[in-house]
Amino acid sequence: DQNKFQAIISHCKEYGFVFPSSEIYDGLSAVYDYGQYGAELKKNIKDYWWKSMTQLHENIVGLDAAIFMHPTIWKASGHVDNFSDPMIDNKDSNKRYRVDHLLEAFAETLPEAEGNALLAKMDELLKENDFAGLKTLIEDNKIKCTVSGTCNWTEVRQFNLMFSTQLGSVTDEANEIYLRPETAQGIFVNFLNVQKTGRMKVPFGIAQIGKAFRNEIVARQFIFRMREFEQMEMQFFVRPGTQKEWYEKWKEERMQWHLSLGTDPAKYRFKDHAKLAHYADAAVDIEFEFPFGFKELEGIHSRTDFDLKQHQEYSRKKIQYFDTEINQNYVPYVIETSIGLDRMFLQVICNAYEEQDLSTPEKEDSRVLLKLPAKLAPIKLAIFPLTKKDGLPELARELMTSCMPFFHCFYEEKDAIGKRYRRQDAIGTPFCVTIDHQTKEDGTVTIRHRDSMEQERVPLTEVRNIVMNKIM
Ligand code: GAP
Repeated sequence: DQNKFQAIISHCKEYGFVFPSSEIYDGLSAVYDYGQYGAELKKNIKDYWWKSMTQLHENIVGLDAAIFMHPTIWKASGHVDNFSDPMIDNKDSNKRYRVDHLLEAFAETLPEAEGNALLAKMDELLKENDFAGLKTLIEDNKIKCTVSGTCNWTEVRQFNLMFSTQLGSVTDEANEIYLRPETAQGIFVNFLNVQKTGRMKVPFGIAQIGKAFRNEIVARQFIFRMREFEQMEMQFFVRPGTQKEWYEKWKEERMQWHLSLGTDPAKYRFKDHAKLAHYADAAVDIEFEFPFGFKELEGIHSRTDFDLKQHQEYSRKKIQYFDTEINQNYVPYVIETSIGLDRMFLQVICNAYEEQDLSTPEKEDSRVLLKLPAKLAPIKLAIFPLTKKDGLPELARELMTSCMPFFHCFYEEKDAIGKRYRRQDAIGTPFCVTIDHQTKEDGTVTIRHRDSMEQERVPLTEVRNIVMNKIM
């Protein structure tokens, strides 16, 4: 539903969640900034993931590795040679396309069976790295790429997605380093550091959140596919031979994590990878039904001992674990869970966004709300004195002071209460409290619930606990 998606993008901008990067300079393609509420929501998602991984698992610890890493790491990981997509350029327009995206977009314009046949053919050619075949497929289908419909294509060739830069002041190939395209390698190269200093016993995991960079050729769909983004990854190191079991366990556990946020289970599905990456012996995506269809949200990969073995070979350092239970040395196998923080943000926003018609026979009315899980909402409690006088602002300020150290509050005394409620609905604030004249008499306030719009009278002294119970 493209209209809904456009409405969500506008909403994100209008209410300070996501801005195009460098907007006053007309933006930078596929790069975004998070505004005042976006930054809070993003941080809350991060915290929720981090806590579920490190605090709630005795055998998972955190790491914060640098973005810059030794360039040989990307040779060892296979990214220098394999982290590329087949591209084709249109010589007339000087535009570059990812071959699969070009064909996918074209397939969508065809009747379903024909489109599927085209995509099946494409998959086959991609698997065989048959670049000439891919070009022929594009030409035979007369894919239009200019207004006039003429196309003058280049050959299909590989284009590496890593950004590179120079370390130090001397421009020379030896100083070329990459911005990491995934956070995982920082975990692999620190495997022994963490295992030894933390006295970790296999099975154990290392979790990390951090920026990753990919020079995506077709960056589309808002923050779904970005050039600078954040990943939340966890590598779980296991005894060889047990990886299948752990893979199933993590598949299940990650799905439960998503469901714990209260989203309709029908909006998720598992999708096995048809084509496995060079490092994997099993891989599955958790897909979510975005407004533009079911798309990858998170990946769970059984990465074998590929990465650790490669680093062992390239660094010439022994990377092994001595398992005291079986008296054996081995290179552990790895199950990885990997989710884009920005993509999770998009999932949360898409799932929360709702336009409601509240019209009655007497009056037309509507509201836009974000039904965010209370745990993730940027503001937990909005506090409104009904009027600016009669000592009501003072009482409201007292409540602010008592709640602010515990959760994020918002104070406002301007405009009619109804208007103030609507503004909080739009940013997903689960609770609003109004202090009125009755508060002065009996110490009660009105607490208003975002989703039901129900209002109830509760003691002022109870407000903090009511909110705390919902966000823990
Ligand atoms: N370490 C494994 C790895 O990076 P991936 O499937 O390439 O695997 C994992 O990426 C997750 O990172 C994806 O499921 C997605 O959520 C997120 N992701 C990947 N590329 C992204 C991009 N260009 N923009 C936003 N998120 C991205």
